[in-house]
Amino acid sequence: MDDELVQNMTMEDWIEETLAFATRHHSHDHSGHGSDHVVRVWQTARMLAEKARLRGEEADLTVLELAALLHDADDHKINPGGHSAEDHLRSMGLDPQTAERVLDTIRPISFSVSGAHPQFCTLEQKLLSDADKLDAMGAIGVARAVAYGAAHGRALYGSGETTIGHFHQKLLLLREAMQTPEGLHEAETRHRFLEDFLNELEREVQYSNK
Ligand code: ADP
Ligand code: NI
Repeated sequence: MDDELVQNMTMEDWIEETLAFATRHHSHDHSGHGSDHVVRVWQTARMLAEKARLRGEEADLTVLELAALLHDADDHKINPGGHSAEDHLRSMGLDPQTAERVLDTIRPISFSVSGAHPQFCTLEQKLLSDADKLDAMGAIGVARAVAYGAAHGRALYGSGETTIGHFHQKLLLLREAMQTPEGLHEAETRHRFLEDFLNELEREVQYSNK
């Protein structure tokens, strides 16, 4: 990017550039990390941050929004060992301190890094983790899991590794990993939907076996 352009960038420009970067970067993904996931996580994170602000906890929106848009850019399924988030922040001329806070927000949020009971230090980490996990729950969570299972040739249910197995190994544990009151509130609704889906699926499979 042109040096003069970079120097005059505002927060809105950084977000816009990063949204465009993320949309390009995630456009060919089939692992459940398409740009639609990134955009939902970004919007959910903003919404949760607004609710947190109303109860008196204020997140740094520049850090949170950039972290949300870049949170899966270097996921091992997309860009193993990559530094594309860091490279992108540098290319926009973001000051190193803010860039480091963005990267520090992204680092611990992956389920594989932090497990079902993560310990987070900053409000931005908590909000991003909640927003990311909410996207694996509820109707969206069911749709993503079924799509992932189909793309990987897995059976929906039965023996061996199945999509329904993933609900029990991961999706039903996410409610317990929520970090903010507003994330937990939405997680309760989405968790109930996961349980209703599993119960109804079981009922229909039993019905067809009678
Ligand atoms: P995150 O976006 O938090 O990094 P993952 O990479 O674990 O999440 O998964 C991306 C999406 O794919 C999620 O919706 C998740 O439920 C789904 N998924 C991951 N592994 C499986 C699996 N083994 N079976 C079904 N769905 C899966
Ligand atoms: Ni994600």
